[in-house]
Amino acid sequence: MQDINVQGTAETTTDVQVHDAHPGGEWWRSAVIYQIYPRSWADADGNGIGDLPGITARLPYLKALGVDAVWLSPFYPSPQADAGYDVSDYRGVEPLFGRLDDADTLIARSHELGLRVLVDLVPNHTSDEHAWFQAALRAAPGSAERERYIFRDGSGAHGELPPNNWESVFGGAAWTRVTEPDGTPGQWYLHLFDSKQPDLNWQNPQVRSEFEDILRFWLDRGVDGFRVDVAHGLIKADGLPDWSGPLNMLELSGDQTRPPMWDQDGVHEVYRDWHRVLASYPGERAMVAEAWVQPADRAALYVRDDEFQQAFNFEFLQAPWRARDLADAIDRSYLANDAVDAPTTWVLSNHDVVRHASRLGLPVGEPRPNGIGVDDPQPDAALGLRRARAATTLMLALPGGAYLYQGEELGLPEATALPDEVRQDPTFHRTAGREKGRDGCRIPMPWEKDATSYGFGEGDQPWLPQPEAYGDLAVDQQEGDPASTLELYRRLLRVRRDLDLGEGALATVDLGDDVLAYDVTSGSQTVRVIVNFGAQPVQLPADREVLVASEPDIAGQLPTDTAVWLQ
Ligand code: NOJ
Repeated sequence: MQDINVQGTAETTTDVQVHDAHPGGEWWRSAVIYQIYPRSWADADGNGIGDLPGITARLPYLKALGVDAVWLSPFYPSPQADAGYDVSDYRGVEPLFGRLDDADTLIARSHELGLRVLVDLVPNHTSDEHAWFQAALRAAPGSAERERYIFRDGSGAHGELPPNNWESVFGGAAWTRVTEPDGTPGQWYLHLFDSKQPDLNWQNPQVRSEFEDILRFWLDRGVDGFRVDVAHGLIKADGLPDWSGPLNMLELSGDQTRPPMWDQDGVHEVYRDWHRVLASYPGERAMVAEAWVQPADRAALYVRDDEFQQAFNFEFLQAPWRARDLADAIDRSYLANDAVDAPTTWVLSNHDVVRHASRLGLPVGEPRPNGIGVDDPQPDAALGLRRARAATTLMLALPGGAYLYQGEELGLPEATALPDEVRQDPTFHRTAGREKGRDGCRIPMPWEKDATSYGFGEGDQPWLPQPEAYGDLAVDQQEGDPASTLELYRRLLRVRRDLDLGEGALATVDLGDDVLAYDVTSGSQTVRVIVNFGAQPVQLPADREVLVASEPDIAGQLPTDTAVWLQ
């Protein structure tokens, strides 16, 4: 057994301050925000697809869980070609999900419960069924209608080839050729995602004023802010030069040259304008950027004090399960964000990545798959869950904001046995099945083991089938069981809140290569979080109280892949 003096001595411990405390700041500096994927949370009308009334009815569950806010993935009118990230009307509610007054009720009820509400804003592209795009198709090349999107003549002798070599993030070409109103083959339009998601032209003033108006529409309805989709993609490099580097938006671009479609300096002007819009409303409204940008100091540009309040920290999500990698990600994140006085946020799962209870059960250090199919190497479920619980125990100790993705509090694994016929992610179809895509992390929630569709809704056909294993993981199976993942999350969130860890200072504690340890100090209280990545158990000091442990019964020793909070 590794004999480590967890209290620390001059020989074994070198405390290094990584991050200073930030007491009494705005709510978004330390909030825990729960992501709801409306299709899959709760289905009140029994049509197999979750909806806004379903969400409203289940909000007390979130209150009891102990989060501060919810972020709702898009619920606007949409042909659902990308599960709602293809918006055809930014000022309404998709009938599948309810009506506009259901959104008002959801916002009001959340506020009554003390939960803030962020909604998703999708500014990089509209649906091809949006009135603007339909007008652009009817209009002539060079018209004002086409200027709101990125239309170009094709290359080749007859314009029969795409204007450049860009590929779609979902696979295939990033350009689609239109048929002109007179029936002849015509121009091409850019879509960094599906062909049903044409990119807007953010150099166009009408696009800019329209989105400021959309922000006001939802701010007037009382939302506390926005999660901004593809925040690093709005502006493309002048001339749309060819690009032969990697295009997968979900991989950080690393030290390579910046691709011409991502992270162009011009995006920041847009966010400064939006910042002013939000600041003109009372009550600390906030925006969080979905910006897959590296290195961390480039990402930090998005959270300067006149832009976003937060940005997702994907470096932490992507870090392999090794003490050194996680420590580096944590150090770099604080260094970059503290330099611009922005909170660091932490996230392990969302609707675009393999759930961390499965991801962490894959071999360490291998590339992260985009979905898992039945013929792919399968995650080790028990190992994945164990590491996921330890990872969350680490994450929720870290000062700053944190994001949870629905169902991770149940330890839900990725669904890896979905038949191809039910897969809906455009990635699956655009790559001819080479990439399984994101359906496996989007399965409807299990609430009650013995109810129809595990309590998701009355309909017996949820839009994606729920794996049988989800029954034993249902909320009603875990509630009150101290060993359950749900009760672990509740405990972590309660202690985090009681001790204000989100506002705390962070110092590293050196306990050896395979152990990650930090002191988090808030006011007069210090909590030590320790994660053991090594094969040998770590001896815990007898004189410290265990506040929370990621596994039950750790009895004086911290086994491998386990985390603990000590006081
Ligand atoms: C990022 C969203 O999170 C993802 O789900 C979506 O497919 C793309 N942006 C395109 O909107």
